[in-house]
Amino acid sequence: MLTLPSRRSILTGLALVPALSVTPHGVWARPEGEGAALPDASASVPSLSRAARSGGRYFGAAARADHLRQDKALRAAVLRDCEVLTPEIHLKWNSLEWRKGQFNFSPVDDLLTFSDENGLRVRGHTLLWDQSTPDWAKREMLSQRDWRLMSEHFSRVLGRYGSRIEEWDVINEPIDTEAGARNLRRNTFFRAFGPTYIERAMEEARAHAPNAHLVINDYGFEYGNPVDKARRQAFVALARRLRAADVPLDGVGVQAHLDLSKGPLDTAGLQDMTKALIDLGLDITVTELDVKETDAAHTTAARDQKVADETRRYLDVMLAFPEVRGVVTWGLTDKFSWLTEQVDSHVRAARGVNRGLPYDDAYSPKPMYWTLADSLGASA
Ligand code: XIL
Repeated sequence: MLTLPSRRSILTGLALVPALSVTPHGVWARPEGEGAALPDASASVPSLSRAARSGGRYFGAAARADHLRQDKALRAAVLRDCEVLTPEIHLKWNSLEWRKGQFNFSPVDDLLTFSDENGLRVRGHTLLWDQSTPDWAKREMLSQRDWRLMSEHFSRVLGRYGSRIEEWDVINEPIDTEAGARNLRRNTFFRAFGPTYIERAMEEARAHAPNAHLVINDYGFEYGNPVDKARRQAFVALARRLRAADVPLDGVGVQAHLDLSKGPLDTAGLQDMTKALIDLGLDITVTELDVKETDAAHTTAARDQKVADETRRYLDVMLAFPEVRGVVTWGLTDKFSWLTEQVDSHVRAARGVNRGLPYDDAYSPKPMYWTLADSLGASA
């Protein structure tokens, strides 16, 4: 079992992080004097989750138990800024059960222990995602088409965590408007069980976790290109179909992997989608915010400013809706970003790390941090 240091002992190590302060208008702002250290742990220390709470929402980030264990500064940043943690990989089926019948619960348990000890909540990400389904399960699903495999998976995961984790991304990334059928991704679940795997999965989740907040999570809604436009419509259409059929669906997750190479945000399109989802009685969580920025020709300062500006433009749209209940970034520091992990090592060598998260790789808050604090602190 991972015994991570407590919030109190960690907060004393926070001198790395400049303090935030509140302006007379109640907006979180950069403090006077760069690099001002936190005076002490018990002082009223602003943070992203404090800013979010003052705006009636929560703030959180994705994290991994192994990173938290090895990196004290990450623990400090998480405890300072987060009210919610999303396990970046540990709840995925291929992490829980890489080999059939051999279970690996300890990273999730570690993250939950850390969260419990420090008063954090955890998002359940995710019960079904094609990309994180182990090969043996895919093979079995396709050859046997036996829903019991799904039931057992749901029962095992939700039986163990369904009452401790209140909110679940039951299905991740079901939409595909390009190669899909009726705009649904032809993933393993679709191929094995047909399009109604979605309804069945939501019902299954409700049966095993009657009090949980059940969510469908997807990406690719932000920009003006035809694919994003079609994806927005398809997401709303799916939500509408499920609500009309009384399928248990409480909210939706919008991942928000922003990308500076995709042109300006389609703010009107984003607004229309968000409003349509809210009109269906759903609430919305921004579940995986980060910014892909690939242009190494610019200075670091210019890159960081672009990331912050994109974040602000996005949050200006989304946080105008009180039904957007929380914002989760996909990591906190550029030191641990899937956007950096994803690229080939030669690309990484040329470009360095992707700078699309609130802290840089040495835990200095970047303009994105201040933008988040400012946007979250202003209530809808
Ligand atoms: C990513 C993790 O960040 C990686 O470490 C892992 O190798 C693959 O998954 N959309 C999602 C997340 O819903 O689960 C993905 O997380 C990023 C894209």
